[in-house]
Amino acid sequence: MHIPVLEKETLEALDPQPNENFIDATIGQAGHSLKILEKSGPNGKLLGIDQTPEQIEIAREKIKDFENRIILECGNFSNLKEIAEKNNFGPVNGILFDLGFSSWHVDESGKGFSFQKDEPLLMNYGQEGLTAEQIVNQWSEEDLEMILSQYGQERFSRQIAHQIVEIRRIKAITSTFQLIEAIKKAMPRRYQNGKIHFATRTFQGLRIAANQELENLKKALPQAIEMLAPGGRLAVISFHSLEDRIVKVFLKEEALKNKIKILTKKPIVPGLIETRENPRSRSAKLRAARKI
Ligand SMILES: C[S@@+](CC[C@H](N)C(=O)[O-])C[C@H]1O[C@@H](n2cnc3c(N)ncnc32)[C@H](O)[C@@H]1O
Repeated sequence: MHIPVLEKETLEALDPQPNENFIDATIGQAGHSLKILEKSGPNGKLLGIDQTPEQIEIAREKIKDFENRIILECGNFSNLKEIAEKNNFGPVNGILFDLGFSSWHVDESGKGFSFQKDEPLLMNYGQEGLTAEQIVNQWSEEDLEMILSQYGQERFSRQIAHQIVEIRRIKAITSTFQLIEAIKKAMPRRYQNGKIHFATRTFQGLRIAANQELENLKKALPQAIEMLAPGGRLAVISFHSLEDRIVKVFLKEEALKNKIKILTKKPIVPGLIETRENPRSRSAKLRAARKI
């Protein structure tokens, strides 16, 4: 089960009122959406978007009591405006982005998000598009090094990229365990027993690249501000510094243009109890703003 991150804080930032309309751009298992719907009755509508069809179905079941107030769309939030317009959705009083993947992707998708299971090397949220397998087997050594170092912030990016290229000359790398073997060979032994698993950064880099996560976020944020009604709220939960920086810089620029008021001077992070109960929340950062 996916535990919604920073639930109380996100709800406070979005501040749903009766009959207001919200877009959950990453509905996942509808944890946040359920709370929004409870507060935005009797007539407030919710447009829920997710790139993963299975997540949409889980969300549909979870919020079925609100059937006549919800619209669910399997799609990419980089097309936020188009999806909302297609559904005649508005005025929009709040938009939430809870970025990245859900526990379902790691535990149940079978798509190679976890380095603890031997699965096909896919890592894509949607049904189509780029996969980690294509990146690992087709991208140049330089490009591999670039994503491992920039998106994964992996210090052994050069060695790992080189090892991948050496191995794939003989045999394509198609599973998570094959990739882990390659990483292991490239990394000094003393770095293999650290606090976080030695493959974490490589997996992060590949996941971000396969899903074009940073590009999608950059495309979606301006659309979100444009679509909000005056007084409407935007909340973004990010899970790594690259995403957080994009959100931070974007909000600052919009505030300078007097388009929004930033509601979180510093990002809101989970408290000790939440991080203990839900380790995935450890890196979460919430930033919020109100449209002027
Ligand atoms: C952290 S989960 C959301 C969890 C949700 N807030 C909940 O409480 O259940 C992030 C979701 O965003 C989806 N996602 C990631 N990137 C996306 C994108 N560009 N467009 C649409 N959905 C995306 C993932 O498939 C995943 O289900």
